[in-house]
Amino acid sequence: MQKDPIQLSSPILGAGAKAGAVDVAAAATRFSGGGPVGNNLSIPSLEPQSAEAFRRRSLCSIDQPGVVMTKLPQELEDTQHEFGSKLVVIMVGLPARGKSYLVKKLQRYLTWLQYDTKVFNVGNRRRIASKGDNRNGTSHSHVFFDPNNTAAKNIRDDLALESLEELIIWLKQGGRVGIHDATNSSRERRKLLLHRLESEPNCRVLFIESICTDPVVLAHNITMKLSSPDYKGMDEKQARDDFKKRLENYEKAYQTLGEEDEEDGIQYCKLINVGKKVIAYNIQGYLAGQCIFYLMNFNLSPRCIWLTRHGESLDNIAGKIGGDAPLSAKGKKYASCLSRFIKHQRQEQEKSRRSEAQSGMAVSPQRERTTAVWTSMLTRTKETVEEFDPKDYDIKHMRFLNEIYAGICEELTYSEIQERYPEEYEARRVNKLFYRYPGMGGESYLDVIQRLNPLIIELERMTSDLLIVTHRVVLRILLGYLMDIDRSKMPDMDVHLHTLYCVEPKPHGTVVKRFRWVEEQDWFVEEQVEK
Ligand code: F6P
Repeated sequence: MQKDPIQLSSPILGAGAKAGAVDVAAAATRFSGGGPVGNNLSIPSLEPQSAEAFRRRSLCSIDQPGVVMTKLPQELEDTQHEFGSKLVVIMVGLPARGKSYLVKKLQRYLTWLQYDTKVFNVGNRRRIASKGDNRNGTSHSHVFFDPNNTAAKNIRDDLALESLEELIIWLKQGGRVGIHDATNSSRERRKLLLHRLESEPNCRVLFIESICTDPVVLAHNITMKLSSPDYKGMDEKQARDDFKKRLENYEKAYQTLGEEDEEDGIQYCKLINVGKKVIAYNIQGYLAGQCIFYLMNFNLSPRCIWLTRHGESLDNIAGKIGGDAPLSAKGKKYASCLSRFIKHQRQEQEKSRRSEAQSGMAVSPQRERTTAVWTSMLTRTKETVEEFDPKDYDIKHMRFLNEIYAGICEELTYSEIQERYPEEYEARRVNKLFYRYPGMGGESYLDVIQRLNPLIIELERMTSDLLIVTHRVVLRILLGYLMDIDRSKMPDMDVHLHTLYCVEPKPHGTVVKRFRWVEEQDWFVEEQVEK
């Protein structure tokens, strides 16, 4: 189906879509409406009446916090108006299709990109309701999920609408992306939510459906469900039977996203088997595109992501920031131990893989056996991987991984910066995340986050083990993503030289180990990790 290009900049829903279309039509009329012609041709301005109209008029939806700024007309300059778009993501899918897993990942990614993102889980609301308020009949038994049980269905719809209400309030208070995490598996339910959202023309809506047909993944998801709070303290067999019946009840009323939903003018994306197959319809706007691109690219393969800063450099000894200095003697020793340690880890992994295979226990999916090694383009990271043999490792140097560029402050010490540029020093101290170094090419933490975005996508897409050798700011930002670290803590996180992190993405979260290089032993020792 063809997209109407006019709708690209308009809110996409119901009343919103109509309002957007009217705006554009009005603008079109103004453009064609009898302005002077010939040499005196003047281009009429769109003259939005309000901040709201100005926001709706926006033609370009690229929106990156701290990186893309909208220039406002003078009369709006003083308003504290926020021009970034708001997105409501509505999840769709039968239970045990990995929705909550997807949602958590998406929340982590968007939050890392600095869009305030929050998940509103209807199941949690149901659990609270079943304990407390007077909605008798709210329960976890399969009977409650029977679509022919009208009283229960009404309660479930109410709970979904209440979660949506909470989400809308949160967006109005400054949130950017609200995720409605529920099955929303019937058209009727989706219409109910859409109807409510019609009176919120500034929110775009994106439906994401998760479909899973892989019996192994499904069986695993169902087993995970049995340890959910709904089945706490219940005998496993009883819980499994109940969940099976709950699923059957949902299946009776399930309607996958399709042509009828398309008639509502929505945008949606269906993810089949964790993004193996993706169907996207009518996707509009930068943020929705980012969500889908991200979800298309991740996988569940077991692997380790190793991360470290380069070995000590001559500039580290001198206390200078930036630059392109080579390694010190101690830095070279670290580099050499790093290659031996990673080789040792690979051998250990290979051993346990073999014994798993021999004992017939090879339950985990086949692991990719090559290790990738990525460094920045700077001398100190390249020297740190000098002893890694390209015959054994897939080695790549990339600019994405370069250290934050400090503009006019490059190759100065912090006390020199304080002395020469006291205002800059203070401004950075007050807001390190947003502060951009002055001078050509000077960067902020937010700039570095944006340049690392494609790398995160690649990292999620890969199935092999990976070693990243980079710099302090980049390491903080990558760990910020992998460990879901709060943005207020990330720019000041301790990431010492000669420390190696191992991050293993798991279905229930990430497992992080940290190893410190002990020079006297010339080997790594594991340390406790506090988040
Ligand atoms: O000193 C090493 C270094 O990587 C510099 O090149 C960089 O400017 C600095 O650390 C970043 O740390 P912070 O953001 O805490 O100043």
